[in-house]
Amino acid sequence: MSKKAIIFGATSGIGEALAKLLVADGYTVAITGRREERLNEIKAINPEKYIIKKHDVTKLDISESIFVELTKEMGVVDLIIYSSGIGEPNYNLEWGKEIPTLQVNVIGAVKIFGLAYNFFHQQGYGHLVGISSVAGVRGNRHTPAYFASKAFQNNYLESLWMKAKRSKVDIHITDIAPGFVDTKMALGDTFGMASLEKATKQIYTAIKRKKKKAYITKRWRLIAFIMRILPARLIIKFT
Ligand SMILES: NC(=O)c1ccc[n+]([C@@H]2O[C@H](COP(=O)([O-])OP(=O)(O)OC[C@H]3O[C@@H](n4cnc5c(N)ncnc54)[C@H](OP(=O)(O)O)[C@@H]3O)[C@@H](O)[C@H]2O)c1
Repeated sequence: MSKKAIIFGATSGIGEALAKLLVADGYTVAITGRREERLNEIKAINPEKYIIKKHDVTKLDISESIFVELTKEMGVVDLIIYSSGIGEPNYNLEWGKEIPTLQVNVIGAVKIFGLAYNFFHQQGYGHLVGISSVAGVRGNRHTPAYFASKAFQNNYLESLWMKAKRSKVDIHITDIAPGFVDTKMALGDTFGMASLEKATKQIYTAIKRKKKKAYITKRWRLIAFIMRILPARLIIKFT
């Protein structure tokens, strides 16, 4: 029987590319996102292998019913990936710009992380993957909500990893922390930008190895280490 995965936020970028890699590897994949036309376009490539569900992760009242509908339709689910994410610079700390980032990257994420963890607990096994970011390592004066939301994801996913390790159930948790990846989220040609293909191949390898944490591409592990030890006064000179 083919393996089954759900990807939240698979209408573009990393989520879409991962869905295609999983399907190429024999998975049946449920993909979600707000843009229904994109979901239909992706499904049209291989209709037997994709299940689509329009879903806005900020609509918390429907997240649970969408999750239950998907898991019932699929029966078993081996892998759940949360790739939904947004963020933008907010120089004047406008509330209207901060709150959507928190709703998608923090509140929406916690809702799905919890549903996924409890589903896997009941099922007896499963693998939950969050696409966080190297941004979680330090603060950033241009885009504070995004960087803080990714630090939240890092800690939340580590907490779930600890919880899973101490449980008697075969649950795996992976935190994927990309640097710059060439998607519509990464504006322009940024330092150390990885192609979407290279990044998603490395992400899929980390998923298959059930790694606790993976920096994508690998060089970001060293950059993250340096960022962590640099004094904040130095960081603001370069960022
Ligand atoms: N690209 C980078 O350089 C980079 C670096 C580090 C981390 N990341 C992280 O990687 C993840 C994927 O980003 P990406 O680069 O692939 O960008 P992307 O192409 O913009 O993809 C973002 C995905 O999030 C979904 N999304 C946004 N708001 C949503 C909402 N309210 N409800 C449901 N889904 C929503 C989008 O779907 P809809 O618009 O259809 O809803 C889309 O599928 C994000 O968490 C991002 O923070 C990216």
